[in-house]
Amino acid sequence: MAVERTFSIIKPDATKRNLTGAINQKIEAAGLRIIGQKRIKMSKTQAEGFYGVHKERPFFGSLVTFMTSGPVVVQVLQGDNAVAKYREVMGATDPAKANAGTIRKEFAESIEANSVHGSDSPENAKIEIDFFFKPEEIVD
Ligand code: CMP
Repeated sequence: MAVERTFSIIKPDATKRNLTGAINQKIEAAGLRIIGQKRIKMSKTQAEGFYGVHKERPFFGSLVTFMTSGPVVVQVLQGDNAVAKYREVMGATDPAKANAGTIRKEFAESIEANSVHGSDSPENAKIEIDFFFKPEEIVD
């Protein structure tokens, strides 16, 4: 299986509740390595750019407000099949539909405050990693 990278965000609802370590434990227990990680306050410009694909959606304004409401932890994860594996570890976007044991089932508050983001394809993972990380900030 191919070694891949994916991009992750631990969102403000999770950092606020001191869940960074608990989420990282689930990531590492799944065999994914955290090879880049920084805690930042996302700017409005960054949030609007990062979520630009959703700009016509009714939840866009609320999503940008939420993502800039507190610290986030942006991460680069590496491992076999990392994109699909992290999506399994996260669970469905809507925590009500997420499987038992997933991050979103255990920790998410709502479909918006759903604790984590993960890339949906290897192509988008590269774009998202490049959006937030300089090459020297990733150490594998
Ligand atoms: P994420 O995986 O980061 O991608 C887009 C985000 O928009 C999603 O997680 C949620 O935080 C948010 N989102 C998706 N669908 C909805 C929705 N129906 N209502 C509100 N927020 C949503």
